[in-house]
Amino acid sequence: MKIMVIQGPNLNMLGVREQHIYGPVKLEQIHGQMKEFATQNNAEIDFFQSNLEGEIVDKIQECYGAVDGIIINPAAYTHTSIAIRDAIAAVGIATIEVHISNIHRREEFRKTNMIAAVCASSIVGFGPFGYHLAMIGLMQVISEVKAAQEAQATQE
Ligand code: DQA
Repeated sequence: MKIMVIQGPNLNMLGVREQHIYGPVKLEQIHGQMKEFATQNNAEIDFFQSNLEGEIVDKIQECYGAVDGIIINPAAYTHTSIAIRDAIAAVGIATIEVHISNIHRREEFRKTNMIAAVCASSIVGFGPFGYHLAMIGLMQVISEVKAAQEAQATQE
């Protein structure tokens, strides 16, 4: 099982930026814990962070045919990016969206979400633990997709 983790703009500043909202944990620490959990579950995992919308679109496209699932925190692009939404829809890979903060309890503009409708699920407001929850959820979704594909193949 292969998983790609995609982190959007300013998430490289975790541990520094608005600690009262995002907490003190750095992105490398989150990724370290995810790597450990993936290894324990025989999953391969890769990490990508970019502050640029087009680079995130390129990375999602690269996932086509290469990974089984995506965990994405599109950060501010969540609220604006039809391009990222279309890329997720285009590749058709099981995707879980994560937000460290509870975007529904913040400013009005954060209630607009371009991404959620093309994801299997969204996890918001659990802090960095949300990434762990996303991994558990994604592994379950990938297993279900694979089981359905195998059932389909035996029928053909
Ligand atoms: C965020 C929420 C977004 O609204 C914000 O722009 C971010 C981080 C989160 O993880 O809570 O950069 O995606």
